[in-house]
Amino acid sequence: MKILIIGSGGREHALAWKLAQSPRVEKIYCAPGNPNIREAECIDTDNLEELADFAAVHQIDLTVVGPEAPLCEGIVDLFKDRELPIFGPDSKAALLEGSKNFAKEFMLRHGIPTASYTCCHNRKDALREVQRYPLPVVIKADGLAAGKGVSVATTAAEAEEAVNACFSGEFGSAGETVVVEECLIGEEASIIALTDGRSIIPLVSSQDHKRAGENDTGPNTGGMGAYSPAPVVNSGIWNRVEKEIIQPFLMGCQEEHFDYRGIIYAGVMITENGPKVLEFNVRFGDPETQAILPRLKSDLSEAMQAAVEQRLHEISLEWDNRHAVCVVLAADGYPGKYQKGEVIKGLEKAENAGALIFHAGTGKDSQGQVISNGGRVLGITALGETLPEAIEKAYTAVNAVDWPGAYFRRDIARRGCDQ
Ligand SMILES: Nc1ncnc2c1ncn2[C@@H]1O[C@H](COP(=O)(O)OP(=O)(O)OP(=O)(O)O)[C@@H](O)[C@H]1O
Ligand SMILES: [Mg+2]
Repeated sequence: MKILIIGSGGREHALAWKLAQSPRVEKIYCAPGNPNIREAECIDTDNLEELADFAAVHQIDLTVVGPEAPLCEGIVDLFKDRELPIFGPDSKAALLEGSKNFAKEFMLRHGIPTASYTCCHNRKDALREVQRYPLPVVIKADGLAAGKGVSVATTAAEAEEAVNACFSGEFGSAGETVVVEECLIGEEASIIALTDGRSIIPLVSSQDHKRAGENDTGPNTGGMGAYSPAPVVNSGIWNRVEKEIIQPFLMGCQEEHFDYRGIIYAGVMITENGPKVLEFNVRFGDPETQAILPRLKSDLSEAMQAAVEQRLHEISLEWDNRHAVCVVLAADGYPGKYQKGEVIKGLEKAENAGALIFHAGTGKDSQGQVISNGGRVLGITALGETLPEAIEKAYTAVNAVDWPGAYFRRDIARRGCDQ
């Protein structure tokens, strides 16, 4: 089997790492990938037509789409038109992530629990609406904003500032419509499932750390670390998630004739009234994937191909019961301004400490040394029989990395130890 992975981050490295373990897989390409993903040959394009041409010429058996942008741009529609097998939802279904308002309306139509909200198409309406909600109030740019379009405003001034940021073009056209919503109280979890539109298989639970600082302080980021399983998703919660979110989602896809052969990721808040959906993402989470896939015992290529061929009912997934913790190493200053091009050493030592290294924003200099080349740079994952053991192994590996310009949170997964 020849596989093409679209994307270039730690998630894509984890996908390549897992898919490369399959005896069915002979070759993996990654577009654009990064030079330190040793499991794949990287091809330097993210142009959809060129990717389809590549898949056709190289007779790719399965294309796997990592990030949301190409999905929302319609890469699945294009590949399907050319009868090229591809894993991911079509552009209509991808609106579940591409538009917060579309997702909310879908949730209402199918009785999926979520925060009350108002959709506003101009600044005046939005400024009026934020005053109608008790503080804190949540303001979301409707479109894709790379994890930076959402504000939880604790004061009226912050709320006004967030509304103005959206309508002043800070997020481009993504901010021309704004969703104002009730702030939910509780603990978050990532519920990620594999579906072919006919059946659906939840993966193991996980929890991300969105905020830059320890104890969930500071600005939202793309995610500073994740662990799996997330104890907050106990069996009672799982049952409710299955009944109130996952099954209605699948029914909704069928009623609305979505062609959904891929991953659905519900960002869920576990409130005192039960689980409520904060948002849908239509792809694997990053960094959740770097914690989830090391626990998967089954052949991922088989499961993905079964989804693409709509025979997912034939598949059951087997999981490692150990705990996984992934710590993200970012460039100092992320998500604000940061340096690139710094040499990173000690990765072999970190691997010898029993950890997995997933390259996100890294490159290679002219001497072949690994250098930093982005905001989120590395994901370091370790497994343990217990969560404290996995945490300790992960940070032992993190501390083996020799990169003075690195920033990482020291409290990844600690919350899971208190439960
Ligand atoms: N209704 C809400 N109540 C409380 N907190 C919220 C609410 N909606 C969003 N948040 C907070 O804001 C974060 C980001 O919101 P959301 O997940 O909708 O946006 P996103 O930018 O699409 O995120 P991602 O990059 O994870 O896809 C959430 O992880 C949560 O911490
Ligand atoms: Mg999102």
